[in-house]
Amino acid sequence: MIQFSLRDKFVSLFDKYLVAGLCKVVLFSGVLLYLASIFLFKDPNCSSSYDLLESSNYHNSPISHLISSIDTNPTNLSHLVFGLLGSEKAWHYRKNYIESWWRPKVTRGYLFLDVAPSKNLLPWSKNSPPYRVSTNITKLVQETQHVAPIMARMVHGIMEVFQEEHEGVRWVVMGDDDSVFFLENIVDVLAKYDHNKYYYFGAQSEYILSNFWFSFNQGFGGAGFILSYPLAKALAEDMESCLRRYPFLKSADLITMTCIMDLGVSFSPLKGLHQVRSLRLFKNVVVSISS
Ligand SMILES: *[C@@H]1O[C@H](CO)[C@@H](O)[C@H](O)[C@H]1NC(C)=O
Ligand SMILES: *[C@@H]1O[C@H](CO)[C@@H](O)[C@H](O)[C@H]1NC(C)=O
Repeated sequence: MIQFSLRDKFVSLFDKYLVAGLCKVVLFSGVLLYLASIFLFKDPNCSSSYDLLESSNYHNSPISHLISSIDTNPTNLSHLVFGLLGSEKAWHYRKNYIESWWRPKVTRGYLFLDVAPSKNLLPWSKNSPPYRVSTNITKLVQETQHVAPIMARMVHGIMEVFQEEHEGVRWVVMGDDDSVFFLENIVDVLAKYDHNKYYYFGAQSEYILSNFWFSFNQGFGGAGFILSYPLAKALAEDMESCLRRYPFLKSADLITMTCIMDLGVSFSPLKGLHQVRSLRLFKNVVVSISS
């Protein structure tokens, strides 16, 4: 009996040392293999993308054709696409705001209306942006019991404009049906930034309490907000999920900000954008300027 248990103990001790030893061997050889893979099997074609872009002989690399296809020309108006959100009812008297700066066949983008234009808006003015009727998202709104269906439609518009037009686009500029953009200025400002990075530009409200009530990190829509291409793409891809996540938010700008933050991108205020509200001269008009 005693003999038996001693033998047991001996065996278990032996097992313990064996296992510990094995573990050490495995760990050590793992580290060795890892180091060997770094130093011995270094593939000259497989360095980091940063090295690749910086290195002078990248033309020999297999992805050089991708790099050479990157358009390094300075940003001009053709790289901007505008998404303007309005309603059929208001367009009758707001269209002059947009026509004051819109350049037919030069500026790219669309006006999104809630319903198809009535007869007295047809034929559609050649000086207005082409229109689209917003996608019917009633089903999504009902399913999520969204508290503000109109706001959901506006946020969804970001995806709709991206889907309509993204070839050669660097910046997606979203505005209201009464936003006024100074095109040369906005191009000058955007040309200073790398459109391949993730940017969410906008303006805080001129009314400090609005910033307090909503967020200081939010672009207030009337002044327009601007998304770089990769961010617009990511947001478009996430759109349905975004609207499902925040059916309780009542403001389009707040939903937009929240979903952009979920993508890990923070707000960059652009001082040239302005929202002017409640001045007697511009009752309910929101003006956006970039300088
Ligand atoms: C804008 O830049 C593109 C290149 O990305 C170029 O082809 C086009 O001619 C430019 N347009 C103007 C008006 O300069
Ligand atoms: C939108 O879709 C819903 C069903 O999902 C339908 O009942 C409604 O009539 C549609 N609205 C328009 C304007 O087509």
